[in-house]
Amino acid sequence: MRSITEVEVRAKRVLVRVDFNVPLDGDRVADDSRIVAALPTLALLRERGARLVIASHLGRPKGRPRDDLRLAPVAARLAELTGVEVRTVPTVVGAEAEAASRTLGDGEMLMLENTRFEPGEETNDDALARDFAALADLYCNDAFGAAHRAHASTEGVAHHLESYAGLLLSREVEALDRLLKRPGRPFLAILGGAKVSDKLGVIAALIDRVDGILLGGGMANTFLLARGVEVRSSLVERDRVSDARALIARATERGVEISLPVDARVATSLDDGAQVVPIEAIQVGQAIFDIGPATGALYRERIMAAGTVFWNGPVGVYERDAFATGTREVARAVAATAAVTVAGGGDSIAALNDAGLAGEIDHVSTGGGASLEYIEGRTLPGLAAIPSA
Ligand code: 3PG
Repeated sequence: MRSITEVEVRAKRVLVRVDFNVPLDGDRVADDSRIVAALPTLALLRERGARLVIASHLGRPKGRPRDDLRLAPVAARLAELTGVEVRTVPTVVGAEAEAASRTLGDGEMLMLENTRFEPGEETNDDALARDFAALADLYCNDAFGAAHRAHASTEGVAHHLESYAGLLLSREVEALDRLLKRPGRPFLAILGGAKVSDKLGVIAALIDRVDGILLGGGMANTFLLARGVEVRSSLVERDRVSDARALIARATERGVEISLPVDARVATSLDDGAQVVPIEAIQVGQAIFDIGPATGALYRERIMAAGTVFWNGPVGVYERDAFATGTREVARAVAATAAVTVAGGGDSIAALNDAGLAGEIDHVSTGGGASLEYIEGRTLPGLAAIPSA
């Protein structure tokens, strides 16, 4: 992709699309990793005298303004992190935003309101894309986390302005390419998360690339059921059991081992305490909410012996303390292994951050869904819209 480093930006207005879709705690940013990850691009542009018009989505407001999803807390955090004023406008596009963009001096920053307040954002409306283009002279996409969305600010606008990749976007693609093209062996994928339907495509793609897959989280239950385990009240997608069976067969054919939990932390509800049971001993009314200690130890052993590890998704209900142990154990093992490690997805990164271990990972991706789609071999519209170098 053509890089923003290649173009003269002095005194030019640059529309920088970032993914500042961060968790909020009231009017405070609860985790600023995605903001920090975009700082090198913003710093480079500022140092080179660009006038920055920053755009991001936040949450899923579905085309209407929502006070709890305004970007003010994000702009405030960006100002704190850079020590520089970040101006804001109450609109996404239009006369007021355009006028504000024209008052910017070299190196100054303006943050637009949440792009998803505009109904045309998610439908990739061309009129909205043109409105974005009217705010700048150049477009720089640094929103890897949203690169799998063909939206007006991630894709459409690139057809109306000279477009470049930001440093984060390029770094993410390079890290994932390294994993796909030259993985150290054994190459291990750890996949978790609630829904197996979201991950069937990536599991199918990974079977062709990896030596082993460790499964956890709600999605593993459908695979357990496919192997004949009675998972009782656990979350399962019964209409996906045959898909899971087919993937297990395909993996076996290719000599790729799909590992499933051998024990679990179960309870009758998320509000109850956890009880550890072997996977064949789940009682009527109980549901799996986390992997058990034997599985944790087994998975750790596999992770420590790997040459490359790709991790996406929690192996239990991470937001509940009683069921966060398994994900914490996986985080510790991924941080401790000598393998090349890449992690993505909100809860996986939260687990690494909470334990202060994110620095031990070779590449922490800012894109959960985007990194999965990239690994799956799908075309990411946000990347495809940037001309090649
Ligand atoms: C993410 O958090 O994965 C990205 O910001 C994309 O958000 P979305 O899933 O709401 O499109």
